[in-house]
Amino acid sequence: MNRATRFYQAAIGKKAVMGITGLIGIGFVIGHMAGNLLVFRGPDAMNAYAHFLKSTGELLWIVRLVLITAVVLHVIAAWQLTLQNRAARPVGYVDRKPQVTTFASKTMRWGGVILLLFIVLHILHFTTGTLRPSGFFDEADVYGNVIASFRIWWVTLFYVIAMIALGLHLYHGAWSSVRSLGYAQPSKDPLHRRIALGIAVVVWLGFTAIPVAVFAGLIA
Ligand code: HEM
Repeated sequence: MNRATRFYQAAIGKKAVMGITGLIGIGFVIGHMAGNLLVFRGPDAMNAYAHFLKSTGELLWIVRLVLITAVVLHVIAAWQLTLQNRAARPVGYVDRKPQVTTFASKTMRWGGVILLLFIVLHILHFTTGTLRPSGFFDEADVYGNVIASFRIWWVTLFYVIAMIALGLHLYHGAWSSVRSLGYAQPSKDPLHRRIALGIAVVVWLGFTAIPVAVFAGLIA
């Protein structure tokens, strides 16, 4: 067995894979959120940006492949870690006193499953136009797709709930990824994780503002 396989078989190896792929995901969501905020600058700005991304051709496909690989590895490592943890302790602790837990850390698995489901539905909704809750989809009018969708209350509600799951997942994930990779010191105080908290709040607010503003009629 080579060294890489041996490293991956240990829990720390899987955590390192989760950390690296998670950081790739964080990079993507920050960029995606910033691009989406162009909706507040009107149809021309947003559609020009979407057109520019599509015009990059092969580069776009390279980025897509990196992202898909990162998501797949992240999910596989999470799945295997869960099985490994269960096998190591088939009967739970009688008196479990974790070093530090937050609501975010306790919801990582289920939150992750919700996010995975969200990503699949989201791509079918805005990228391929397979799901058309409003009946409208025009590949060249990304702005129009966004506005038409978020006029519907349950689409807005679905995105608002998914962004809460994303914010919580990011808050714990941003912190634990750098911990797993050995770049942060242990701390019992969750509020010490200022950078993770800052990233989670900015991404959550930035994304949530879009469906809410459209639904409230602030952008049309
Ligand atoms: C309110 C929140 C969000 C809005 C309004 C939004 C909007 C969009 C739109 C309009 C597209 C299609 C872009 C185009 O065809 O040019 C898109 C694609 C995509 N979004 Fe989002 N998004 C949101 C949140 C998210 C989140 C949280 C994630 C990931 C966790 C995500 C992942 C993706 C992916 C992977 C694509 C496909 C990109 C591609 O075509 O390669 N989005 N989004």
